[in-house]
Amino acid sequence: MLRFSIGVITVCFLLTACNESVQVSDSALVVKPKPQKLSDLPVPSADPKALLGSQLFFDVNLSKERNQSCATCHDIANGFVDKRNDVLSGAVSLGSDGHSIGTRNTPTAAYAAFSPPFHRMVNGEYRGGQFLDGRESGLAEQATGPFVNAVEMALPDGAGVVARVKENTRYENLFNELYGEDILEDDVKGYAAIADAIATFEKTALFMPFDSRYDRALRGEIRLTPEEELGKTLFFSQQFTNCNACHQLNASPFYEQETFTNYEYRNIGVPANAAVTARNGGFIDNGLLDNPAINDPKHAGKFKVPTLRNVAVTGPYMHNGVFQDLRTVIMFYDKYNNPSRTINPETGLPWAEPEVATNIDMENLEIGPALPDQRVDAIVAFLKTLTDKRYEHLLETE
Ligand code: HEC
Ligand code: HEC
Repeated sequence: MLRFSIGVITVCFLLTACNESVQVSDSALVVKPKPQKLSDLPVPSADPKALLGSQLFFDVNLSKERNQSCATCHDIANGFVDKRNDVLSGAVSLGSDGHSIGTRNTPTAAYAAFSPPFHRMVNGEYRGGQFLDGRESGLAEQATGPFVNAVEMALPDGAGVVARVKENTRYENLFNELYGEDILEDDVKGYAAIADAIATFEKTALFMPFDSRYDRALRGEIRLTPEEELGKTLFFSQQFTNCNACHQLNASPFYEQETFTNYEYRNIGVPANAAVTARNGGFIDNGLLDNPAINDPKHAGKFKVPTLRNVAVTGPYMHNGVFQDLRTVIMFYDKYNNPSRTINPETGLPWAEPEVATNIDMENLEIGPALPDQRVDAIVAFLKTLTDKRYEHLLETE
C-alpha cells in the first residue's frame, strides 16, 4: 500500500497539486506525462490526425474479409467493448474470418490512454502498458496488433494494411498532407503513421468524457443516493473492502481524473471460463507471463488491473469473461472473507478453482469483514455511478 505512504503525500505537497501526477512506487519516482485537463482534451474534429484516425477506427475494409473494424469489438455505442454476444455468451470475440476466436474478453478502449508506458517498478512488479499483459507499451504500438492478428482482423502483415489504406485515395491524400508526401509508399513508416492516427483518435475526449454521475457528484452538480454513497465509502475503505488498493490511481479520492486502476498486475484467483477452455483445447492464460519481456514464473496469472469506468455496461467480466453479472464479481471478492459465500450464483456450484493457483495476492484480498448482501448491493450501485452519460440508458437493460 505504498501509494498511501508519506512519500506520496510529501510529493503532492511539494508540487502543490497531485494532478501533476507524480507517482511514487517504492523509493523510485516515476513521473508520468501530466494528464491533460479535461477542458484541454481535443475533440476529434479539432485535430486532423484524430479525424483521420476515427475513419480508420471504423473502417471494415481494413480486415481480411472487409467485415470488421476496431469498432466491431470496441463499440462506441457500448462502452467500447464487444456486445455482439455471438460466441460463448460474449466472453470472447469472433475474428474477421467468421470462426476464429480469441482467448480474452475484449477490454474497453475508453480511458486506455491513461495507462503509463509499460515499466518495471523497483519492487520487481510491473505497471502500465496496453493489453491485459502489457505486451505493447503505448496506444500506437497496440494499434499495430489487431490488424495482423489471425484471430482478429487477420491481414497478412503491415504492408497488407498499408495496401488496403491506399485503396482509398482520400486516405492517401490525407496521409500525404499530415504525415509527409508518399509516406504510404514506405510500408514501415506508412504502418506507423496509420497506428499513430488511430492512437491520436483514442486520446480524444470521445474516449474519456469524465461525465458520469460520479464525476458530476465530485463537481457538486448532483448528489449521489445514500446507497451509492455507502458503496463509495466501502469502495474507498481499506478497512471494509480494500478495493482501492488496486482500483485507485491517485491517492486523493477527490482526484478528477480517477481511472479506478493503479495499472499494476495482480492475480486475484479468477477461475478459468470452462466454455472458453472447451473451445480452445484447455488453454491456460498466464497473463503477464505471456508478455514476451517477462519470464519469471512469479508473474503467472497476473493481469493488468482493469479500469472500472463504465464497468456496469461492459460485462461479461474478468480476462476470460467468466462472470456475466457485476454482482457476481463482488460476491467473488467477498468469498475471500466470508465463509458463507461459497456458491457462484451463476452456476449454482461452489466457486471453481483459480485458473492459475500460484501468486494470488491474498495479502490484499483477505482484508475486511464479510459483506452482507446490502453492502454488496451498495458497491454495485456505486460502480453504476461510473457510467459515462452517453451509456446511462444502458443501465436500465443491464
Ligand atoms: C476481434 C475483436 C477485436 C478487434 C477487431 C480489435 N480489438 Fe482491441 N482488443 C481486443 C481484445 C480481445 C483485447 C485484449 C487482448 C489481450 O489482452 O491480449 C484488446 C485490447 C485492446 C486495447 C488495450 C486495452 C487495455 O486496457 O489494455 C486497445 C487500446 C485496443 N484493443 C484497441 C483496438 C484498436 C485500435 C483496434 C483496431 C486497430 C482493435 N482494438 C481491434 C479485441 C479486439
Ligand atoms: C489485489 C488487487 C485487487 C483488489 C483488492 C480488487 N481488485 Fe478488482 N480486479 C483486479 C484485477 C487484477 C482484475 C482483473 C482480473 C482478471 O481479469 O483476472 C480485477 C477485476 C475487477 C472487476 C472486473 C472488471 C472487468 O472489466 O472485467 C471488477 C468489477 C472489480 N475488479 C471490482 C473490484 C471491487 C469492487 C473490489 C473491492 C471489493 C476489487 N475489485 C478489489 C484487482 C483487484
